Amino acid sequence: MTTITTERPLDTVADFPAIPDGWAYLDTAATSQKPQPVIDAITRGYDQTYATVHRGVYQRSADMTLAYEAARNRVASFIGGKPDEIVFVRGATEGINLVAQCWAGTQLKAGDRILLSMLEHHSNIVPWQMVAERIGAAIDVVPLTADGRIDLDAAAAMLTPAHKLVAFAHVSNVLGSVLDVERAVALAHGVGAKILVDGCQAVPRLPVDVTALGCDFYVFSGHKLYGPTGIGVLWGKPELLDAMPPWQGGGSMIDKVSFQRTTYAAPPGRFEAGTPHIVGALGLHAAIDYVESIGLTRIHAHETALVTQARTALAAIPCIRLFGPEDSAGIVSFAMQGVHPHDIGTILDEAQVAIRAGHHCAQPLMEVLGVEATARASFGVYNGPRDVEALVAGIARVARIFG
Ligand SMILES: Cc1ncc(COP(=O)(O)O)c(C=O)c1O
Repeated sequence: MTTITTERPLDTVADFPAIPDGWAYLDTAATSQKPQPVIDAITRGYDQTYATVHRGVYQRSADMTLAYEAARNRVASFIGGKPDEIVFVRGATEGINLVAQCWAGTQLKAGDRILLSMLEHHSNIVPWQMVAERIGAAIDVVPLTADGRIDLDAAAAMLTPAHKLVAFAHVSNVLGSVLDVERAVALAHGVGAKILVDGCQAVPRLPVDVTALGCDFYVFSGHKLYGPTGIGVLWGKPELLDAMPPWQGGGSMIDKVSFQRTTYAAPPGRFEAGTPHIVGALGLHAAIDYVESIGLTRIHAHETALVTQARTALAAIPCIRLFGPEDSAGIVSFAMQGVHPHDIGTILDEAQVAIRAGHHCAQPLMEVLGVEATARASFGVYNGPRDVEALVAGIARVARIFG
């Protein structure tokens, strides 16, 4: 992977009203703070332009429908898909469950196999277990390389024609390791399997083009991309979405309803039963405009520089164990000998540094790392070198307190 360096920090913190001066918010991998244009788009959506979509015959509703569909178009252009391939969901979790139930649940049969990896978020494990249990399919788990990447050589050796689905994270939420998606796609397709990529931690950190990547499904959450909670995206190849039965029944997802027989709308409407998160879509639109106004290549370079700064400084503290590869994307996980990550998090909080401590919804990965939990600093566009300095100073204090 090429490492690009930025000439200057992004200096965007003033765009984020919920980040007070002197607070180092280092929990963007959990959820990102919201820039003013996103807050404004949400406020405008409720206090000026609010109405339902897809149904109203009055002008306000027609305008809101256009705005909602414009958000879908914006998502499509952002990730290199087409609008009809974009299904609005609550978040990555719902997107994965949708594919598990509606694609795997109808296409797989007893004896088929699903390939996951050791670093997956629970959202990319449990939905597959639920469907596998129901249909009698089996799950295999790819190990990691020593530096914490999904071991694609091992995946190549494990894949067989019985594997019908591969589901990997594009960027690990714990280790920050970046998947070689093109290679993973080639391996999956080489045995006739489909591949879902969990892009939750990738879309805020790297340029993503689903067409160039060649995957079959891609999911992400709006709230990790500087947008609102409650809105996310499932992108799927049109022929796969088209062959999938609906997920939930209700308004908006139908073609015609009678008590004798109901027919369904074409995708994406087929998978969007009920009144959608209208204003959430507008907020997501504004979030995409915001990150693209900076540029994902610049954001990636900026976060890479912060990761390098943090890893270098933390590595110099003797009791620190760093996880993940050197070139991780925006995320640094670590442990301190003899100190529970929760204590690290609490002491850092006193110093105005907010990190995440815990298993990060990746318990199998914790087992691989041989720890119960890690401390995790994750960066966003609003962070700068001073935040890393605050983190490192806080860790030095933790070391002093615990001797
Ligand atoms: C890699 C990854 N996948 C999936 C999820 C689930 O996202 P959400 O809770 O927004 O559905 C997360 C959230 O932390 C994540 O980091």
